[in-house]
Amino acid sequence: MRQVPPLVIAHRGASGYRPEHTLAAYRLAIALGADYVEPDLVSTKDGVLVARHEAEISRTTNVGRRGEFADRLTTKELDGRAVSGWFVEDFTLAELKTLRVVERLPELRPQNTRFDGRYDVPTFDEILGLLSAESERLGREIGVYPETKHPAHFADLGLALEEPLLDTLSVHGFGGPEAPVFIQSFDPTNLQWLRPRTGLPLVQLVEAPGPSGVQSDLVTATGLRRVAQWADAVGVAKDLVLPRHPGTGTIGAPSSLVVDAHAIGLQVHVWTMRDENVFLPTGYRRGESPSDPGDSIEETQAFLDAGVDGLFTDQPDTTLEARRLHASGIKIHAAM
Ligand code: G3P
Ligand code: CA
Repeated sequence: MRQVPPLVIAHRGASGYRPEHTLAAYRLAIALGADYVEPDLVSTKDGVLVARHEAEISRTTNVGRRGEFADRLTTKELDGRAVSGWFVEDFTLAELKTLRVVERLPELRPQNTRFDGRYDVPTFDEILGLLSAESERLGREIGVYPETKHPAHFADLGLALEEPLLDTLSVHGFGGPEAPVFIQSFDPTNLQWLRPRTGLPLVQLVEAPGPSGVQSDLVTATGLRRVAQWADAVGVAKDLVLPRHPGTGTIGAPSSLVVDAHAIGLQVHVWTMRDENVFLPTGYRRGESPSDPGDSIEETQAFLDAGVDGLFTDQPDTTLEARRLHASGIKIHAAM
């Protein structure tokens, strides 16, 4: 069974419920019904792709408490800024596998800390093995949506991500143009390198405007036409589709992004749907605590009304329920 848009993409696995980028987080995402799971990829010292959101791993593993690795603490320039910590490229896979994963957001998601220390860092190979096995077992196609993280940094180290990425996908039968795969990157150069080398769909990621309010020129009508030269979709911060009022934090009318992108054949995927109040536009928050769940179902429905083709989510079950309700024509309003 093939997935049909709007796709539900488990962001770093079901990361609202398990420490991100673990096989447990991916397995739960699949059990909850996600169409795709999203691994962010970096490289070990010996050239093995593993799932971590950053090259620096002290926030999501116990590396800082492992005395034998104390001398690997260092400072590097990464994406133009100095970063201190422990870096995945300074560890062989065998060394990395001795570490254990911890919850990134323990104050916001204390329920997930009971899983701290229980899982290792998965390889991309292990993730694809899990997807294949679960697709077979469940009789449904589960896709993979890998992101190349810091591709220029790893290329400079002689650990380029792109060839191992394509090779590993091929080994697991995910290499053909019909395979359920999207490859994503913030780096246009990375996608431009990949474009002539794979028929898989490519996704240009675009950040939200920074504090200065300056928006990437990749999401103007002209910018989108450039992106269409090397990508099949844009993966955008959700504020680029439903901008928030700078004063009140509420969302207003959609930007022209979805209409402009669709007019030239680009899909639009948005990130990241999250249940907790702290991540929600003001109008969807419920209760006082930043960690309490707000009305993310209604928020998601607003994005579906805006015509997006895919949603990254930390809580796939909530997003799937919003999609089901939207498809059935049922609108849920908290006041009802
Ligand atoms: O890849 C889509 C989204 O995940 C990009 O943001 O920082 O969570 O990788 P990030
Ligand atoms: Ca990502």
